[in-house]
Order: sequence, then structure tokens, then C-alpha cells
Amino acid sequence: MTTRPQLMTVDDAKALPVAKVREIFERHLNPGQLHFMKLLGFDEVLISRAEGMYYYDQNNRPILDFFGGFGSVAYGHNHPRILAARKKFQDEKRHEICMAFMSQYVTALAHNLAQIAPGDLKNVFLTNCGSVANEAALKLCERYAGPKRTKIAYASNSFHGKTRAALSVTDSEFYQNGFTLLPNRQRVKFGDLDSLEQALKSDPSIGTFIVETVQGGAGIVHAPASYWQGVRELCTKHDVVWFADEVQCGIGRTGKFFAFEHYGVVPDIVTLAKSLGGGKTAIGAYIARRDMHARAYGPSKVALIHGPATFSGMGEGCVTAIEALNVLYDEKLIENSAASGARLLAGLQKLQQSYPKLLKDVRGMGLMIGIEFADLSDTLPFGMKQMVSLLDDKLKGSLCGFTGALMLRDHNTLVAFTEYNRNVIRLEPPLIASAEHVDAFLKSFETLLDSGVTGIIGRYARRAIA
Ligand SMILES: Cc1ncc(COP(=O)(O)O)c(C=O)c1O
Repeated sequence: MTTRPQLMTVDDAKALPVAKVREIFERHLNPGQLHFMKLLGFDEVLISRAEGMYYYDQNNRPILDFFGGFGSVAYGHNHPRILAARKKFQDEKRHEICMAFMSQYVTALAHNLAQIAPGDLKNVFLTNCGSVANEAALKLCERYAGPKRTKIAYASNSFHGKTRAALSVTDSEFYQNGFTLLPNRQRVKFGDLDSLEQALKSDPSIGTFIVETVQGGAGIVHAPASYWQGVRELCTKHDVVWFADEVQCGIGRTGKFFAFEHYGVVPDIVTLAKSLGGGKTAIGAYIARRDMHARAYGPSKVALIHGPATFSGMGEGCVTAIEALNVLYDEKLIENSAASGARLLAGLQKLQQSYPKLLKDVRGMGLMIGIEFADLSDTLPFGMKQMVSLLDDKLKGSLCGFTGALMLRDHNTLVAFTEYNRNVIRLEPPLIASAEHVDAFLKSFETLLDSGVTGIIGRYARRAIA
């Protein structure tokens, strides 16, 4: 007879106190990650529910979400229409896995994405996350470009995910960390047309250029319209696939559905994930030129060599994405992203003028905004340097760690850090953010800046010591 292991029930999970979660996290998940959370005080918070712009913690404290899961919560938390669509799907006992038959839900989602995407971007493939959307898209590009042109150009400071191929074109020693990577790749400088041209001219084996339209992990970094127009021209001239990774910057985040729409050009393939799932499900996609798909997987002999995958196009996931896309347009969230983003940026620019020693730069489009702090090495009073390095080893002495921790503790507001530039805080709130939410954020942030460097570090240190 099988012995029943001691399992927790769902109700047990919901009732776990924060100390117990911390203990189990340390034992069965990632103790190193917990160390990092402790530095920030994030290990003291357990979210009990989430609605709209807010998380609510175990003490029912509302936390204003300006992190937004790096752009995964465009519709806010638990949007009622998205919840209702999911519930109806369950109540009607619709099917989930559909590998044998055609799925009406996959089909409708593909239709919607093809309606939204400009130009020849018409062929859709569904995945469960951004990394796998990029993997799938890179495989499509490779087959389209042919066996003599398998090399992939990628940009400096890029982030495309942590699976093998995506990691190979992610420009980070920190993440690559000695893993075996694809050999067929060539780094070029982001935003530098000469660098791309040089690579494409000198190496005809390059068949694909993968690039984020707005670099998220680099700290919200843009290139001007002239760069994107040049990318389009160069890729067309050299018959290279321009692969736009819009996993983070797509779905209205920058004030257009796709960020590349700001520049009047269209790539050959684009990937999406994050908010495609309406904040409720894990779904990613690529949308490619139809002729690319036809060349790569058109003949029936090769039609099944990449897809479908078991979980590519789960019923409820597709229904969630379909409803979410309808909400995006019905509630004019793309327009709201542009308007609230402009208000937020203008407010931050004012703060930058008031606190030039603290804030080096503020930048962004729509609700994808970076705040770059001045380097502590320039601003920190001499005696504090040693204390800072003790308290803040992971964040490399940047003010972001202190402000992020204090925004949460003292101002009930969540912000995000940035992988490659520890001086940058990323703001990617839900696209439902109103003028009131923006003003509330600006007020809290101003109060924090007003304490000055010494005040910020002092407040943090008191917390760490307490
Ligand atoms: C631009 C970009 N591409 C790809 C990914 C990977 O997506 P996922 O975490 O869903 O695998 C991310 C995640 O942050 C991203 O920002």
C-alpha cells in the first residue's frame, strides 16, 4: 500500500504565517534569494490578496504596485472581466489540453494577435513564457535563414531570458556564468548602427538580429527613431531577420501596443509574454511574417518538428489572453499608459531638478520608466561608505536598495530594481494607473528624496539594526 506523504492542503498554504513561509523557503527553495529579500525587508511581507493597483499583505496593508511584475500586470491585479471569463470557462467545463484537435481558443487568440500586429506579422506560435517564446522564435529564424546563416547578432546589455538559446544572446556574464552557450552568436553595440553594419557586412553567416525595442534589464534604455529605421534598412539590405523582443515593452507598456510602432518600422518577428497572460496566466507568443513560417515549417514533412508542445495554447490561458486583449482596447489602456506615463515622467523630471545630486536621470515612454540615481561613490559622505558596504553587499552600494526597501516599509509602495544597472529603479505599474496613483507615488518618492542621502541611509540602517 502506498503511504500518503504529509501534504499541505490549499487551505494549509493560505494559512501559513510569514515565519513558516520563510523557513520552508529557506529549506526547499532558494536560501540565497532569501538573503537578498532580507536585505530589503521583503521577507517580512506575505501577500494575502491583490486587486487593481494594490497588493494587500498579511496585515491588510495596501501596497501600491509600481513594480507590476516587470510589466506582467497591465490590467491590474485580478481584473474583474478577466476573472469572469476564466470562471465561466471553468463553469462550462471547457477543455484545456488540445493536441489532437484544433482549438477554437488558440485560433481566436492567433486571429486577435494577427489583427493587432502590423505589416506581414501574421503567423502565431504560443508558449508559456518569454524565454521559450524567444527559443521558439530563434529556431524559426534559424530554419528561415538556412544552414549557412545560423549566426545570431545580439545587442550589448540585452536580456532575452535564461533558457539556453535565450541566455546565449543575453549579454550578461552574471547570468551566463560558465554555462555552455550556443557558439553561433555575435555581439553588437545597442543603438549603434555602425556596429550592426560592420557585423552584417563582415560576416555573411549572420542571419538574425535579436534586440529588445526598449532594453528593460539594462535599465530602461532607448535608441532613437533613426536607429530603428536604420536597423530596418540594414536587415532588409543584408537579408537578415530583425527579431524584436517585446516581452517586456509590448502590450501597450510604452503607450503603443508594440514599442516599435513609435518608430514607423516593422520587424520580421516579434515576441510577447508577461501581460499577454492578463496577470493571471503564463503565456507567451511569437508573431512572425507568414512567409518565414512557410519556409521554415511549411511542408507537411517538417510541420511538426518544433510544435505543438503539450502546454502551447492551454484553453483557459488562451481565453484569459483573449479577454485581456479586449479589455486593453475597451478600457483604452494603451492611451492611459501614454497619458499616465507622461504625467509620471514630467513629475520625475521636476524631482530631478529639485534633487540633482540624488537623481542622475529619469527616462522612459508610457508606463515603462527608469529612475537613475547618482552613484553613491560621488554622493556619499566619507564616514558612511563603510557602513553602506556592510549593509548592502548585493546592491553594490547603490541608493536603489535603500529607497526600494524604504518605499515599501514607510510608503507602502513597491518598485523594481534593475539587473545590469544597480543605480536604476524601474517603474512598470499596471496600465490602469490613474493620475491619483501617479501623484501618490510622486508624493511618497519626494518625501523620501527629501531626507537626503544621509537620511535615506540612516533610516535604512535603523531598520537593519532593529
Ligand atoms: C525582454 C525580455 N525577454 C525575455 C524575458 C524572459 O521572459 P520569461 O521570464 O517569461 O521567461 C524577459 C523577462 O524579464 C524580458 O524582459
